Amino acid sequence: MRTQVGIIGAGPSGLLLARLLHLQGIESVIVERQSKEYVLGRIRAGVLEEGMAALLREAQVGERMDREGLVHEGLHLAFSGRMARLDLAAHTGKAVTIYGQTELTKDLVDAHLAAGGVIHYQSPALAVEEYDTDQPRIVYEQNGQRQELICDFVAGCDGYHGVARQSVSSGKITLFEKTYPFGWLGILSDTPPIHEELIYANHERGFALCSMRSPTRSRYYVQCPLDDRVENWSDDAFWDELRCRLPPPVAEKLVTGPRLEMSIAPLRSFVAEPMRFGSLFLAGDAAHIVPPTGAKGLNLAASDVFYLSRALIAFYKEERTDLLDRYSEVSLRRVRQAIRFSWWFTSLMHKFGDDSLNFRLQTAELEYLTSSTAGMTSMAENYVGLPFEPFE
Ligand code: APR
Ligand code: PHB
Repeated sequence: MRTQVGIIGAGPSGLLLARLLHLQGIESVIVERQSKEYVLGRIRAGVLEEGMAALLREAQVGERMDREGLVHEGLHLAFSGRMARLDLAAHTGKAVTIYGQTELTKDLVDAHLAAGGVIHYQSPALAVEEYDTDQPRIVYEQNGQRQELICDFVAGCDGYHGVARQSVSSGKITLFEKTYPFGWLGILSDTPPIHEELIYANHERGFALCSMRSPTRSRYYVQCPLDDRVENWSDDAFWDELRCRLPPPVAEKLVTGPRLEMSIAPLRSFVAEPMRFGSLFLAGDAAHIVPPTGAKGLNLAASDVFYLSRALIAFYKEERTDLLDRYSEVSLRRVRQAIRFSWWFTSLMHKFGDDSLNFRLQTAELEYLTSSTAGMTSMAENYVGLPFEPFE
C-alpha cells in the first residue's frame, strides 16, 4: 500500500494533521492501535488556546466547539484561604475555550471519515523503517496480517508510548525527562461546576484544581502521592479532601455526586530532540509531555501540527523543503516555553514533601504575583498561549 503521508496515531495530533492535509488535497493514511470507541472514550482535558481554536476552524471542525465550548476570560488562584482572579482578557486580550478533548477528537474523526479519510483502527504500527530515505515504510498489523505502508513522509503522532520515536536509532535522538514526586487524582461527575471559571488551589495539604467539561459536568483533581491508588478513595473521601483544599466560602458551594470516572495520572516533563529524522517527523505527545498544570499538552500537539502541516503543504504545493528543515527547531522553541511555564506553575502550586519553608515561599510568590500587574500579565501571556512564530 502507498500514500503521501503515513500517520501513526488517531489522537488529536494525527487527526488534525490528516484533516489539514486533506483540505489541501494531500493524501494520508492513519494507522491506529486502538478501536475508534476506545480512542473516543478517553477522558482528557480541553483548555484550548486561541491558536488551537483557530486551527480547528481552519480544519473545518470548529462549529460545535464554537457552539458548545465555554469561553473563559479568566481563572482563579486560591491560596491562604482566599481567591485571586487572573483576568486573562484584560492582560492579553485573549481567552481560552473549554471544550473536551473527547469532543474535538470526535469532531475530527467524523469530519475526516465523512470526507473519505482513511483511518485503520486496531492496526498497530510495529516499526518505521527506511525513515532516512525518501520512501519510508510503516510496518503495521491489520487483522493479524503484517502490512507495509510506503510513504513520502511519516508523521509519528503515536503518543508517549508510541513506536515512531522508538524506531529512531538511539544515537540520533536525545531524551530529556523530569518526573514529579506526586500525581493527580481526578474525578469526573455529572454535577454543576463549583465556579464558572477554573480554580487552581495551593494548600498545605496539596494542590487542587476545579475544572469542568460543561455547565453540568465537572472535573476535579487533588494532588496525591505517587503510590496512591484509586481503590484507596471513596467518592466522599475525595469530596471531603477537595473541600479541605479550597477557601471555605468556595468549598461550601461544592455540589457532589457519584463518580463517572476516577483515575490517577503521574506528572512528568519529557522532550525528545530533534523532532525530525529524515522523512520521519514526531508531533504531539510522541515528542513531548508536560505536567497538566498549565493545560498545555493538547495545545502543544496543535502547535506541532500547525508547523508540520504548513511544512508538508509547502513541499507538495511549491516543492519547498525549507519549512521541513525548520520544523524541529521552531516546534521545539515553543515546546520549551510551554514546558518551562508548566514546570513553573507546577512548582508554585504543589506540595513538595514536608518542606514548610517551600510552602511559605510559594505563598510569598503568590502574594507578589497576584498583587503585580507585571506578574499577572506574564502568567496570563503564558496561560493563553504564546504566539506561533511566522512560518511560511
Ligand atoms: N500504532 C498505532 N497507533 C498507536 C501506536 C502504535 N504503535 N502507539 C500509540 N498509538 C495511538 C494511541 O492509541 C493514541 O490513539 O496513538 C495515539 C496517540 O494519541 P495521544 O496519546 O492522544 O497523543 P496526541 O495525539 O499527540 O495528543 C496529545 O493527548 O494525551 C493527550 O495530554 C495529551 O492532550 C494531549 C494530547
Ligand atoms: C481538565 O479540565 O482536565 C484540566 C483543566 C486545566 C488543567 C488541567 C486539566 O490545567
